[in-house]
Parts: sequence; structure tokens; C-alpha cells
Amino acid sequence: MNDNQRPSLDPWLPLQERAACCEPRPLVRARGLTLRYGPTLAFDDVTLDVHAGCITALVGPSGCGKTSFLSCINRLTDLIPGARVSGELRLADLDLLDPRLDVIALRRRVGMVFQKPNPFPLSIRRNLDLPLREHGMRSRTRRADATERALRNVGLWDEVKDRLESPALALSGGQQQRLCIARALVLEPEILLMDEPCSALDPLAGGVVEDLIAGLRGRVTVLIVTHNLAQARRISDWAALFWKQEEAGRLVEHGAVRQIFETPTQELTAAYVRGRRG
Ligand SMILES: Nc1ncnc2c1ncn2[C@@H]1O[C@H](COP(=O)(O)OP(=O)(O)OP(=O)(O)O)[C@@H](O)[C@H]1O
Ligand SMILES: [Mg+2]
Repeated sequence: MNDNQRPSLDPWLPLQERAACCEPRPLVRARGLTLRYGPTLAFDDVTLDVHAGCITALVGPSGCGKTSFLSCINRLTDLIPGARVSGELRLADLDLLDPRLDVIALRRRVGMVFQKPNPFPLSIRRNLDLPLREHGMRSRTRRADATERALRNVGLWDEVKDRLESPALALSGGQQQRLCIARALVLEPEILLMDEPCSALDPLAGGVVEDLIAGLRGRVTVLIVTHNLAQARRISDWAALFWKQEEAGRLVEHGAVRQIFETPTQELTAAYVRGRRG
């Protein structure tokens, strides 16, 4: 199969059934969360729940703090000199702001997919085998099983099963992105963070990846940043709008996707979803 043929995944849920389908059960809880990069306030005082098993879309204009919010959840902020996070942030029972947190263990619970596909410059198989080994899976058979399962989950298995030793970088852009999603899923994370995962792909390949994300509903919690409002509406259960106001990103509104798109409570949300602002 190539990018032009979409894998058959779980059926799409009509808009009115989304969010309602999954009971609000917070997996990530942010309370008064603020992130500063030195003197720059990336976002301020964000209180937001990300519900388990659901797809939550983070939307908003450039520079409003969406990527920064994701980077608090997997502690990529640790790698940015001058980044300071305050407030409260929890993943289930885990205090994500605790300086003693085992960040390696955390990254097993929190998967990340970036805008540009970034497979390791290794074989397709090694892209999945490596994280499994690093996280202590010693049995070769178990690693092979986990690899097959992850590749099946992203609709890639039939495309690559006969060339697992080929370089991952020889795959098409869309296939590379699905491999990166498989690499994140192979560790069975509780939450998958995705930062504009379709925007560097051509529309067909982006559509395949979008279908794949929609098919993850109920299996893993997904927090996806997207500039594509139609996509947010198509795939998410919950949506949150960030906006830069008074020199800092702020959460304007968060709710079930149908409410955000059809009956927003904030004028800014209404203007944004109708394409009049942002
Ligand atoms: N590493 C960094 N150092 C300093 N400032 C940063 C850094 N990363 C982001 N910022 C600033 O923080 C603010 C939020 O940026 P962020 O990248 O989170 O926005 P975004 O909503 O993801 O934007 P986009 O839609 O363009 O990706 C911006 O003012 C940005 O310039
Ligand atoms: Mg960003």
C-alpha cells in the first residue's frame, strides 16, 4: 500500500457523538501553568484538563504557546536554557514539575511526534527496536512482536514487512511520519503529543496520517497541535484555543469540539473558527 490508499481503521465518529463518547476523565491536569523563556512569557496561567482516551486539539495563531505547552508535558523544557515553568502540572498521579522526576521513565509514558518526520538514520526495524531495547525489553521475540504490532497500528506493516532492513530515510514522507508515530506507540505511551504532524506532508499523505490519528481514539490519549481547523473539527473530541494577549499566550476557551465550533462562548473563539481572526 502507498500513501494514496488509506488504511482501514476505526470508523469516524460523527461530531455530535464525540467528546460525549468518552467520559471526561483528566489524564493531564494543568493548573495555573505558566512558562517563561527568560524574560519572554510563552504562556500564562493555563488551567486545562486533557481527557484520557480522547483526542484533544490545541489550536490558535502562531506564537500563542501551543508547542511550549506540549514541551512542559514531556519536560523538553529541561533542554531549553532559561525556561522556567510554574503552577501545577500532573500526568495521572505524577507531578510533572517535580525536579526529581525520572525524565527517561516519563518519556516512555509520553510519546512525541514532530511536524517534520524525524526517523533515525537506521533501518526501519532498528527505528522501533532501539527504543524497545533502551527501555529494557531484552527478548528479541518480544521486540519483534512489538515492532509488528506498532507497524500494523499505523497501517505500515504490509508496506514494509519485506524490507525491514532498508533505511527508514528511503521511505516516502508520509511513510516516515507513520514510522515516527509507530516509534512513539511502540513503547505504549499513555499520551501521544503531536505538533502539527500532517503539515509537512502533501495532502494525500497528510490525509493518511490524519486517518491514523483518528483511529487512535480510545486506545491512547492524543494531544495534537494543528493549524488546520477543518482537521481539528474532523478528528478531535475536545478543542482548546490559545491566543496571545498582553504579550503572553492564554487559554481562551476549552470544550467539546462541537461546542467550540458550533456554540463557542467567547467572541474570539467564534471569530477564529469562522476564519475572521488569526
Ligand atoms: N526556545 C525558546 N526560547 C525563547 N523563546 C521561545 C522559545 N520557544 C518559543 N519561544 C517564544 O514563546 C512564545 C510561544 O512560542 P510557541 O513556539 O510555543 O508558539 P506556537 O503557538 O507553537 O507557535 P507556532 O504556531 O508558530 O508553532 C513565542 O513568543 C516564542 O517566540
Ligand atoms: Mg508551534
